[in-house]
Amino acid sequence: MLALAALLPVLASLSTANAWASDNHTCALTKPIYSCENTTAIVDTCCSPVQGFVLTTQFWDTYTGLESEGSVLPAEAWTIHGLWPDRCDGSYGQYCDLDRQYDPSPSPNTTTGTKDGTPVPAWEGGDVITPLLQKYGKWDLLAYMQKYWKSQGSPDWIFWQHEFSKHATCFSTYDVGNYGTPDCYGSLYENTTEASMIDFLESVIKAQVQYPTYEWLADAGVIPSNRTGYAISQLQDTLADASGAVPYLGCSGPTKQILTEVWYYAHSLGRPQESILKPIDQTTKSNCNATQPIWYYERSKGSELY
Ligand SMILES: *[C@@H]1O[C@H](CO)[C@@H](O)[C@H](O)[C@H]1NC(C)=O
Ligand SMILES: *[C@@H]1O[C@H](CO)[C@@H](O)[C@H](O)[C@H]1NC(C)=O
Ligand SMILES: *[C@@H]1O[C@H](CO)[C@@H](O)[C@H](O)[C@H]1NC(C)=O
Ligand SMILES: *[C@@H]1O[C@H](CO)[C@@H](O)[C@H](O)[C@H]1NC(C)=O
Ligand SMILES: *[C@@H]1O[C@H](CO)[C@@H](O)[C@H](O)[C@H]1NC(C)=O
Ligand SMILES: *[C@@H]1O[C@H](CO)[C@@H](O)[C@H](O)[C@H]1NC(C)=O
Repeated sequence: MLALAALLPVLASLSTANAWASDNHTCALTKPIYSCENTTAIVDTCCSPVQGFVLTTQFWDTYTGLESEGSVLPAEAWTIHGLWPDRCDGSYGQYCDLDRQYDPSPSPNTTTGTKDGTPVPAWEGGDVITPLLQKYGKWDLLAYMQKYWKSQGSPDWIFWQHEFSKHATCFSTYDVGNYGTPDCYGSLYENTTEASMIDFLESVIKAQVQYPTYEWLADAGVIPSNRTGYAISQLQDTLADASGAVPYLGCSGPTKQILTEVWYYAHSLGRPQESILKPIDQTTKSNCNATQPIWYYERSKGSELY
């Protein structure tokens, strides 16, 4: 007791702005509003996201490229891309808090994507997310992420840290007090950056499970096939009916016939942490070929977990 008491004034004098501060970001006390539907300025940006167009995004990959290291795709499931904060007009910011930059290969490498933007320095400290989840005993979350949040061509943690640094930092409800933002976590947490990281990772999963793309397509008879292509309208209509709004579908290949992505748009009631999402039609028109069949390919042999 004595030692601790003696330490306290020292800690207090060393403290940064957020330690021991008054928190006052108790979102339970605020009436939640739908993001992008506020008629006056948002009073507490910890409780409602300023970039409030919430996108839940997924991939359909046919391989990981790291099969030899045991990285395979989950059977009968699309994989997680991320949870993105667009501005209400459909534009977006990225790498909004460079004090929480853990992406080893920032893409783009400036905050604006042009050479006039602020450079985003590459993170050289390696994997922080895996040890963080282990430190707090979040084994179930880590296992889920290892199964469903797959990178292509790099270890999964690189992709997770990319998503956190590029996107989570632009959602005001995960702010930790850097660059003049409020500290949404406050003195309850030893390390608010870590708190925001775990909070975000959980939010991603909470949103993703509401969009079972594989099941929705399969229920309508649309399953991966290397012999039969599908009309883009059938894919789009099926997912619009199931999710409640028209999503963006992304295709790759020279003639844009290979289905690879889906982005579901929503407004969030209160914080995206709560994941109460109202489906809204996409603001980005699908780039898939409108006149040719679309390939929803089967996974490569050995790339899928059975
Ligand atoms: C926090 O809330 C209390 C009670 O409403 C108020 O007295 C105090 O000034 C607030 N502090 C800050 C930093 O807003
Ligand atoms: C909604 O709140 C945001 C953040 O405070 C503000 O930028 C925006 O102008 C508000 N929208 C309206 C219509 O007042
Ligand atoms: C960003 O990448 C471009 C293209 O590779 C390069 O020319 C530029 O120097 C890089 N900028 C920074 C700040 O690293
Ligand atoms: C908080 O955690 C982050 C992520 O693990 C780490 O980079 C940072 O150094 C920690 N901050 C403090 C003050 O320990
Ligand atoms: C769609 O496919 C046709 C035939 O392969 C091609 O001519 C056309 O350019 C493609 N459209 C797009 C958007 O790639
Ligand atoms: C299906 O086709 C894709 C694209 O050519 C290929 O990568 C994949 O290995 C094929 N899957 C099977 C089971 O043949």
